[in-house]
Amino acid sequence: MKRCVLITGGAGFIGSHVVRQFVNKYPHYQVVNVDALTYAGNLENLKDVESAANYVFEKVDITDRARLHQLFEFYQPDGIIHLAAESHVDRSISNPLAFLYTNVIGTVNLLEEARLAWREDLLGKRFHHISTDEVFGALGDEGLFTEETKYDPHSPYSASKASSDHFVRAYHDTYGLPVVITNCSNNYGPNHFPEKLIPLCISNILENKPLPIYGDGKYTRDWLYVIDHAKAIDLVFHEGKNASSYNIGGFNEWKNIDLVKELCKQMDVKLGREQGTSERLITYVKDRPGHDLRYAIDASKINAELGWKPSVSFQEGLSLTIDWYLENKDWLQKVTSGDYQNYYDEHYSK
Ligand code: NAD
Ligand code: TYD
Repeated sequence: MKRCVLITGGAGFIGSHVVRQFVNKYPHYQVVNVDALTYAGNLENLKDVESAANYVFEKVDITDRARLHQLFEFYQPDGIIHLAAESHVDRSISNPLAFLYTNVIGTVNLLEEARLAWREDLLGKRFHHISTDEVFGALGDEGLFTEETKYDPHSPYSASKASSDHFVRAYHDTYGLPVVITNCSNNYGPNHFPEKLIPLCISNILENKPLPIYGDGKYTRDWLYVIDHAKAIDLVFHEGKNASSYNIGGFNEWKNIDLVKELCKQMDVKLGREQGTSERLITYVKDRPGHDLRYAIDASKINAELGWKPSVSFQEGLSLTIDWYLENKDWLQKVTSGDYQNYYDEHYSK
């Protein structure tokens, strides 16, 4: 039987790269992209694959259990890669309930549908939950998050992701659902919504607007190029051990202020501006409440068990990312103006 993989959140930043990876690499799979098209979902991210024979888009909100049930009955997926989420920490501080509904209730809805659909036969089935390193809380100057690190989420976003991770494990332990979880560090790359640090700064540099640095800028994150994350997801989905979790990271820590300065340098070169022009836009602003000092991932398990490691260096990935934004100014313009939200109506509703 043909394999059917249901990918939730496929119109978002990481999801679109995962959808592309699966549509192109596995022409014999049916790939179903299930996305509610919130402000973060943009079908233009998938223009190059939307007419592929093995791809279909379904506009469905994962908090809508009845619609999810119809989808499961119709497609009978044997694999689920679950990325749909509210993903921005700052939004979780101003509207935590949206994070509870999508990230927790939406995940449990999917788990319930998978449990029902697969109750007769678990063979060949897999529920792959995409999570974040933020569930582990904050590190001091030393140490790394491993798969054994105790959960200690601080923001409403990370609390909702931690909760969904626990539900996924509970469905394995209670019902025997075949699951796997990946916890990844900060992604960057093409199609990143410009509310997040790197695309926000690229967009603001282009428009000569201030680059807001929270607090003293010494907060530290590990950054991974999004296509390396998509490849890791592909590998874990196919070869990861049942009921395991894998940390995914770039071995690439940056203090926010150093990262933004590096970005400014590369932008000045690419835009033919005098060095220092973009850096002058840096503006220290009020800190994020509950701001986690440092995230850093030990990704040695996925390397030892499955042979994955990042393939793109940070200098290269940052350069590729800036080039993508410079070549896709219309994408950025549509996103900042909100015009991208018409794409679904123009292309999918007849
Ligand atoms: P994103 O915000 O860019 O995209 C989220 C997608 O989910 C959007 O297409 C949106 O329309 C969809 N969505 C939101 N609510 C929905 C709902 N109720 N029903 C159906 N679809 C819905 O997010 P992203 O950065 O691509 O992150 C994807 C996943 O990866 C998330 O689960 C996130 O927690 C996780 N993650 C992200 C990062 C990162 O650096 N961005 C790092 C680690 C893990
Ligand atoms: P972000 O891209 O929002 O990702 P996350 O909060 O999931 O790590 O933020 C990355 C880091 O950059 C984080 O320490 C917060 C900081 N930041 C700023 O200093 N200024 C900004 O305008 C934004 C959006 C983030």
